Amino acid sequence: MDKFVIEGGVALKGEVKISGSKNALLPILAATLLTQEKCIIKNAAILKDTLTMVKILRSLGVSVNIDNSTIEVKSGSFTKNTADYRLVSTMRASFCVLGPILARLKSAKVSLPGGCVIGVRPVDLHLKGLRTLGAKIEIKDGYVYAEAKQLRGERIFLGGSFGSSVLATDNVMMAAVLANGTTIIENAACEPEVEDLANFLNKMGAKIKGQGTPTIEIRGVKKLYGAEYEIIPDRIEAGTFAIAAAITKGHVVIKNIIPEHLGAVLEKLKEAGVLVKKGKDFIEVKRKNSLKPVDIATLPYPGFPTDMQAQFMTLMSITPGISVITERIYPERFMHVAELNRMGAQIFREGPSAIVHGVKNLVGAPVMASDLRASAALVLAGLVAKNKTEVFRVYHLDRGYEKLEKKLEILGARVFREKE
Ligand code: EPZ
Repeated sequence: MDKFVIEGGVALKGEVKISGSKNALLPILAATLLTQEKCIIKNAAILKDTLTMVKILRSLGVSVNIDNSTIEVKSGSFTKNTADYRLVSTMRASFCVLGPILARLKSAKVSLPGGCVIGVRPVDLHLKGLRTLGAKIEIKDGYVYAEAKQLRGERIFLGGSFGSSVLATDNVMMAAVLANGTTIIENAACEPEVEDLANFLNKMGAKIKGQGTPTIEIRGVKKLYGAEYEIIPDRIEAGTFAIAAAITKGHVVIKNIIPEHLGAVLEKLKEAGVLVKKGKDFIEVKRKNSLKPVDIATLPYPGFPTDMQAQFMTLMSITPGISVITERIYPERFMHVAELNRMGAQIFREGPSAIVHGVKNLVGAPVMASDLRASAALVLAGLVAKNKTEVFRVYHLDRGYEKLEKKLEILGARVFREKE
């Protein structure tokens, strides 16, 4: 396994180009199952999670070819309908192959994804949606068995106790595109990645309206066709680099992004005293003076994204004063608190909130990565901590950040990948 060795104290300077969005790419790869014809996906970040989804497609008998950041998929007449536990359990997003397999083959067997360190991760909304479309759903020996001779369009309320669900919206949308009649999803997820999936499906010949709003209308069609598509930039990677610039008192231009997708994050950075200049497809982030404490609560898009909570907490951990960080999507998503405190942070759990007492500086230490975004928060802490930080189990980072240490090195950071 690899670790990162980070020598903190360098103010990051220069330009960084953001990769394509992981959370748009994964459901779009699943959506290629909905046509026999070839699909060409561009601006694909070749991450560990990307390769897991490719493995799942290949295990179904689908041909996949990766050429740099372009992925060609030709599902042809694949017949295998089972997504195996060993693959699905390593990446929860794999569960979004359920809708397309069911829509295409009329029957699907997909392993329940199981929980992960950030929470239980139930799939009740996914199953409620598919049942409403007419699927017979059974859960047996850890697998979901779904059957449907013909899915039919229906009105579905997809809100749960934590609000909308990104992948449940994706799964239902992908099942509905080939259903008989029109489906209306109410309380749908509005994330840009859901919108990107809908735009890809429309390029394949689907008839979807309202993507990016809480009400999505899908008029079922008989057949979908191959399409070429470019994935949107990764707003969470972009936000992570914006915090890297802010926390190191640097000056960084973050290119190839859609600034509107970062609204809540940039708003909070400005409130904290960070200078943010927005361009058409870039932002410029600078910080000279001291930071101001800011409270955040994570919410479904366009609210502050849960995937930026850990990174923002690292910034607040060295901000003079007290900030309250409340996690409304995954109330247990605080694996990074204990590790940050080992680096000298003063953070106290209070139910779904963390109370952050800013300290003058963090001190480097050996720390353990636990989930993708908590790992990013530890790297950010290492960039600003005095002396050396070692972040172990960086395979968590490799799941969602493409060449992270290379991009940081170009900005002047002293980050080295070594064998543990
Ligand atoms: C997506 O996960 C993202 N993953 C997550 O990013 C992200 O944190 C999450 O959305 C929230 O924005 C991908 O897109 C691959 P949800 P998803 O269903 O769809 C509850 C990362 O770091 N819920 O929107 O699985 C759930 O427990 C990852 O890139 C139900 O109750 O999340 C949570 O509290 C981590 N029942 C809330 O809804 C369900 O059936 C939102 O979860 C489904 C979800």
